[in-house]
Amino acid sequence: MESMIATLPDQFRWAAQLQTPAVPAAASALVCGMGGSGISGDVAAAIADGPVFVHKDYGLPGWASTLPDPVVVAVSYSGNTEETLSAVEAARSKGLRVVAISGGGKLSELAADEGWPVLKVPGGLQPRAAFGYLSGSVAKMLEGAGIVKETGLEEASAVAATLLGEDLNGPGRRLADDLADGLAGKITVVLGSARTAVAAARWKTQMNENAKSPAFVSLLPEADHNEVEAWTTLGTALRRTVGVVTLRDGSEQPRVRARFQPTTQLIGEGATVVGEVWSQGTTRLARLVSLVVIGDLVSLRLARTAGVDPVAVDAIQQLKSTLGES
Ligand code: PA5
Repeated sequence: MESMIATLPDQFRWAAQLQTPAVPAAASALVCGMGGSGISGDVAAAIADGPVFVHKDYGLPGWASTLPDPVVVAVSYSGNTEETLSAVEAARSKGLRVVAISGGGKLSELAADEGWPVLKVPGGLQPRAAFGYLSGSVAKMLEGAGIVKETGLEEASAVAATLLGEDLNGPGRRLADDLADGLAGKITVVLGSARTAVAAARWKTQMNENAKSPAFVSLLPEADHNEVEAWTTLGTALRRTVGVVTLRDGSEQPRVRARFQPTTQLIGEGATVVGEVWSQGTTRLARLVSLVVIGDLVSLRLARTAGVDPVAVDAIQQLKSTLGES
């Protein structure tokens, strides 16, 4: 997995130089995908200038047909994820325009049969390790549709390269190792804001899948209206089991920014506040990616510390096979 993460800068560069198939102009987008593929829709929604909705379920929401001039973007690395295929079937039956992004599988076959624009990403990786290919492809497709004005892919590549460094020994590694040492053996809470929510979600899922470690996301200002009550009552034993990392961004809304210090002080009564990570870069994508890279490295260090294989996702595969998904 380390060698896959090391290719992230190249993946973003690949996407930056991508010649995408012609995508019709659209006024809104509905990105459908699950897990390591679906997060590319969240990334697109975070960097887009027009409305981008993300759907992670079977079928399509009832309001899909009421979207203004929509394009449905189906993303599945394997091409065989049943929720995504079900969403595509629903889009087809509603007569919505579909574009596909995949490494192969049934989604690619269906797109070829239907004559939908399809973008093939390089295969052979775990979906979550193809983060740059997938999120870069969605960003480029939506740039083609006129919904994303500035992808930020070149800067994302540069920021990732700087943080990862040669042989993953860059400044990101040192920060990540320190954080991981504080989080080892704990349940992680990633505390963010609207500006860092997608990166926080990626931290959670990378800890889940790479380190086989429980992690949860909590966002401000919402957590100040419920969750803060819970932290103050935890006993010492539980306090030792929860580690909090905050993800920060220079463009936080000022009143959200003002909440981090008093909130972490309150949380600190019930959980160990392990550290804070600030985004770097100018474009929205680069800032998001700068946080993602640190989270990926934290998850790999946690996996090593726990002695688990970061690549294997046996529970996911077992469930897919139990449910008959190829
Ligand atoms: O990380 C993973 O392996 C999963 O989250 C998959 O991405 C998810 O199950 C969907 O599969 P796919 O990305 O092939 O559509």
